[in-house]
Amino acid sequence: MSDDILTAHGLTRHFAVGGSLLKKPKVLRAVDGVSLSVRRGETLAIVGESGCGKSTLARMLMRLIPPTSGEMTFEGRQIDHARGRALTELRRDMQFIFQDPFSSLNPRATVGRLVGEPLETHAPDLSARERRGRVAELLSQVGLRPEHADRYPHEFSGGQRQRIGIARALASGPRLIVGDEPVSALDVSVQAQVINLLADLRDRLGLTLVVIAHDLAVIRHMSDRVMVMYLGRVVEEGPVDEIFARPRHPYTMALLSAIPVAEHGRTRHQIPLTGEMPSPVDPPPGCRFNTRCPFAREACRTDVPELRDAATAPGHRAACHFLEEIAEQAPPAPAQGGAGLTEGARARFALYAEASAGTPTRPRSPAPQETTP
Ligand SMILES: Nc1ncnc2c1ncn2[C@@H]1O[C@H](COP(=O)(O)OP(=O)(O)O)[C@@H](O)[C@H]1O
Ligand code: SF4
Ligand SMILES: [Mg+2]
Repeated sequence: MSDDILTAHGLTRHFAVGGSLLKKPKVLRAVDGVSLSVRRGETLAIVGESGCGKSTLARMLMRLIPPTSGEMTFEGRQIDHARGRALTELRRDMQFIFQDPFSSLNPRATVGRLVGEPLETHAPDLSARERRGRVAELLSQVGLRPEHADRYPHEFSGGQRQRIGIARALASGPRLIVGDEPVSALDVSVQAQVINLLADLRDRLGLTLVVIAHDLAVIRHMSDRVMVMYLGRVVEEGPVDEIFARPRHPYTMALLSAIPVAEHGRTRHQIPLTGEMPSPVDPPPGCRFNTRCPFAREACRTDVPELRDAATAPGHRAACHFLEEIAEQAPPAPAQGGAGLTEGARARFALYAEASAGTPTRPRSPAPQETTP
């Protein structure tokens, strides 16, 4: 059996927007041809600016909304058109953790009821007493106390409410959990605790995680792989250390460089990403990043770059016409773990900043000839 627990191939989700009696609706391409695979036991992080299609993708993967086109499998079974019993089983095996724990919890239900509810559907044979026991167990798994079962969501802090959300997600015994910005509504001081809890649960329960974030720094230490999205498409993917040490796509460079770095005791952001993300109703032709990319050339405005091997580590791929040329200008970088940004990433930011400022670090033209061994 394949190690992939979840796969997607050519997923798209289009929305019709702005239509009226007299006006034809326009097509908004929220997700536009995304393929991915998630291996059992790993944590895949999906990152990108707000509006790039992360939530739409997550909702499709969870089968909360159907794809416009494309295929998905879960544990080898085709799920893009799952219905009835197959869908009920999916609801048990894959669970969702929402961004805002408060709005996703019914304020009038006790915590015991909220966490016990999924058990009524997915473990109907449990007696009321067994269910209470299971709820107590779930609460302690997420660091809450059994007596919390009698309280209401508003009696808890944001972090605790997210723990309640996680306990509820765990109730059906899922094998895959998708978290849509599970900590971005929380205080910075609490974010790490919830992230650590998720990582700990993943290891203890053998879960697979897909975590969506707009801030990669937050989930860096728990992720195995990263997928970077821009305007409905994947622009880069690879092992997390590779992405941090050797980002290959200009957008990834910009995105990573927005992470605050501590320097001389102060925190500073490096290069902000310039310009607005174009509308997914009218995405630019060619490379979708061309309107903001400091390296863009004529070909970028007409030809769509495909995801291809970035040739640094297995599974590292990026969608840019000038991968080699841009990389050639950045000094070689050793991959490093640990906190903060690596030297290699810094070098790339410097390169990006220079290009953004209009200094001539654009890819040389014509492209250098590749030497074949
Ligand atoms: N139900 C919907 N109807 C119309 N447009 C939508 C709908 N859901 C999302 N969108 C649009 O799709 C794009 C991607 O949104 P979303 O997936 O929420 O992005 P992200 O989670 O990365 O911020 C946005 O332009 C958003 O406005
Ligand atoms: S160089 Fe061209 S293809 Fe590469 S990211 Fe920039 S605009 Fe896209
Ligand atoms: Mg979102």
